[in-house]
Amino acid sequence: MSEELTLTKPQDDVPASGEPLMKVEGLTKHFPIMGGFPFKRQVGAVQAVDGIDMSVMPGESFGLVGESGCGKSTTGRLLTRLLEPTRGKISYRGRDISHASRKDMAAVRSEIQMIFQDPYSSLNPRQTVGSIIGNPMEVNGINPPGGREKRIREMLETVGLNPEHYNRFPHEFSGGQRQRIGVARALALEPKLIVADEPVSALDVSIQAQVVNLLQQVQRDMGIAFVFIAHDLAIVRHFSQRLAVMYLGKIVEVGDRESIYQRPRHPYTHALLSAVPEARLDDGEEDQRERIRLAGDVPSPINPPSGCRFRTRCWKAQDKCATEAPPLVQITGNAAGHLTACHFPEEGSTTAREQDVVLDSALRAMESGGPAGD
Ligand SMILES: Nc1ncnc2c1ncn2[C@@H]1O[C@H](COP(=O)(O)OP(=O)(O)O)[C@@H](O)[C@H]1O
Ligand code: SF4
Ligand SMILES: [Mg+2]
Repeated sequence: MSEELTLTKPQDDVPASGEPLMKVEGLTKHFPIMGGFPFKRQVGAVQAVDGIDMSVMPGESFGLVGESGCGKSTTGRLLTRLLEPTRGKISYRGRDISHASRKDMAAVRSEIQMIFQDPYSSLNPRQTVGSIIGNPMEVNGINPPGGREKRIREMLETVGLNPEHYNRFPHEFSGGQRQRIGVARALALEPKLIVADEPVSALDVSIQAQVVNLLQQVQRDMGIAFVFIAHDLAIVRHFSQRLAVMYLGKIVEVGDRESIYQRPRHPYTHALLSAVPEARLDDGEEDQRERIRLAGDVPSPINPPSGCRFRTRCWKAQDKCATEAPPLVQITGNAAGHLTACHFPEEGSTTAREQDVVLDSALRAMESGGPAGD
């Protein structure tokens, strides 16, 4: 392993400070919907990500959580510039990369890496492990001392694979091992930021904890910043020091892990937390996470509700919620850096958590009479 990778100081639960590694302002991605006859024209848009602000500090692990379809993967692809933003600004180390060309991105391309959800489709089946990890090194001009092959073998060892398996093909590995190859591929480029998009969702529960532990070890030992995307709060609780909760293309709450878990103020965060049993991930067997239980369907991102997007499922909604979109701000009672977008926030007390449990069991009762939306 190179000195550059090993020398970096590990980060623990110390709140990150200083200049952000990546900063995002008003980031928006609307996918156009084309239609009409005889001439194709835009008839609408999927508002996948709609004006989000967030920042990631060097070496920190930042969690991004929300139900399926809320825009997490789109956000991840915008951050890594695999997608072009519709609007908004992405700064990386103080530099605006929002619309950087392929050529301009070349200088930072290797520093911002992505680990994908599906370890089966994200590795080329016709390439050996050595090529899968080595080709991006070549493309990005990474020439470590001692040569690429030596580095690749070191990376395989770092992620818990046998360096002798250098010449094997992806199909010779299990799902968990393939995800380790994906991690090795990202690490070989000496990244400063890794966006991990639900990196364990496709794996067996018994394997999930091992891969999360590997990522955590990498994050701490190498000081790499992570944006860790997950659809529930259980894994992020284990992994991230700070986290943002997304709903229908917006960030509804963001803050330190302790603040969010102990005093969640947004009703949606409450609902998400109510679906997280006290299971500990360290020991995979207890990881029996339940599905999020919320009444009603997630509205379409093509035509999201006016005002607060959560209002059609919110038990606290009032008239104002339909007309005014709540800004993401530090509301009274929030700890520093804990921001909530809600006109009528929860108290964040134990009582409020008990209400969640009632809500949860009420919905469970409803479900037994017929499926409730999730
Ligand atoms: N390429 C695309 N074209 C049109 N709509 C898309 C595209 N990619 C994602 N979407 C839509 O954007 C929304 C957010 O998707 P996604 O970012 O994948 O959410 P998540 O990762 O949270 O499940 C969804 O409604 C999805 O159908
Ligand atoms: S703004 Fe209104 S609808 Fe939205 S979460 Fe808060 S109370 Fe619920
Ligand atoms: Mg996704």
